[in-house]
Amino acid sequence: MIDPWGSSNVDYEKLVQQFGIKPFKDLLNDLTDPHLLMRRGIIFGQRDYGRIVKAIRDKEDFAVITGMMPSGKMHIGHKMVVDQIIWYEKHGADIYIPIADMESYSARGVDFEASRELAINEYITNYIALGLDFKKSNINVYLQSKNLLVNDLAYVLSKKVTFNEMKAIYGFNGSTNMAHMQAPLIQVADILHPQLEEFGGPKPTVVPVGPDQDPHIRLTRDIANRFKNQLNFIAPSSTYHRFITGLTGGKMSSSQPKTAIFLSDSIEEAENKVKTAKTGGRESLKEQQEKGGDPINCVIYEMLLYHLMESDEKLQEILEDCKSGNIMCGECKAHTADLMKKFFEEFSSKRKKGAKNAEKVLDGAKVC
Ligand code: TRP
Ligand code: SF4
Repeated sequence: MIDPWGSSNVDYEKLVQQFGIKPFKDLLNDLTDPHLLMRRGIIFGQRDYGRIVKAIRDKEDFAVITGMMPSGKMHIGHKMVVDQIIWYEKHGADIYIPIADMESYSARGVDFEASRELAINEYITNYIALGLDFKKSNINVYLQSKNLLVNDLAYVLSKKVTFNEMKAIYGFNGSTNMAHMQAPLIQVADILHPQLEEFGGPKPTVVPVGPDQDPHIRLTRDIANRFKNQLNFIAPSSTYHRFITGLTGGKMSSSQPKTAIFLSDSIEEAENKVKTAKTGGRESLKEQQEKGGDPINCVIYEMLLYHLMESDEKLQEILEDCKSGNIMCGECKAHTADLMKKFFEEFSSKRKKGAKNAEKVLDGAKVC
């Protein structure tokens, strides 16, 4: 069982084998312009993505839905989702971004006021700074608790879901509070509501998420089929990305500040954190010159792979140089820290601008 609220590590291979997630690379060649995260295998899995490939190719209507639970500060790993949203927007998708304050309330004990603050000062501010243009009318962001339509739909859909099923999927039991039990159904409604008549009716949709969210995807796809006759839903597609490794080699987690580069870090903080990251370097310089480094288990290499190195050729060069012992970690780290510094120099100033507009975006006012 995968627990979307737990902290266990996910075994990517097993997911593909046991739960029927298909490899993303099967469809890679069908896209004319795959995103960097797709090309590099960071987006590793999918369900029914052929539908989305077709929608992009034939310029049909389609929607992207992906949300985040406001439970803490955003870190650099969260940037991945925003990068994907921007790519889809460029390919003609309508974008829906729920901010899961109901989930945060029920599963993490964060009150609604605190969630709203985080939504404004963290999430929407960062979304704007990372390049999401909320002036476009096809980008919608909302707090779950303020979206009556989503809440009504969740209620309607819950008619065809039983407690036994929720127990089997999420391990809920007699002590689980009722708000928590409803949270997945709110998410199901987040994902299906863009197919209601109000939003143009049934259409292909895709949910780009981490693999921990797959239980919600499976539930959503089942429910979509159960309501096929009444609401004519098309079962949503999904993609799954690997999580970025934390600075110390384990999971990158907002609740463990030593593991994370936060998007709200100062330029210096971000730069210095890169310098503390765990590398795939050897014990001694001599050993590294002889054996080469281990870039696949190197946080520095991951930073380049996920975020800092646009050019596939240059990345490949670093990989080769590392493996053959031609570059040493000191030099490689300094170079990466410098790229991080440059990213944060630009990003920090965009963040200031983003902060000014974030509240207006959330309240649906026009941003000029
Ligand atoms: N459960 C997601 C999380 O923990 C947040 C979320 C809410 C979501 N609604 C969604 C994700 C719809 C994808 C689609 O971050
Ligand atoms: Fe990582 Fe660079 Fe060291 Fe290789 S040389 S292990 S990529 S820091």
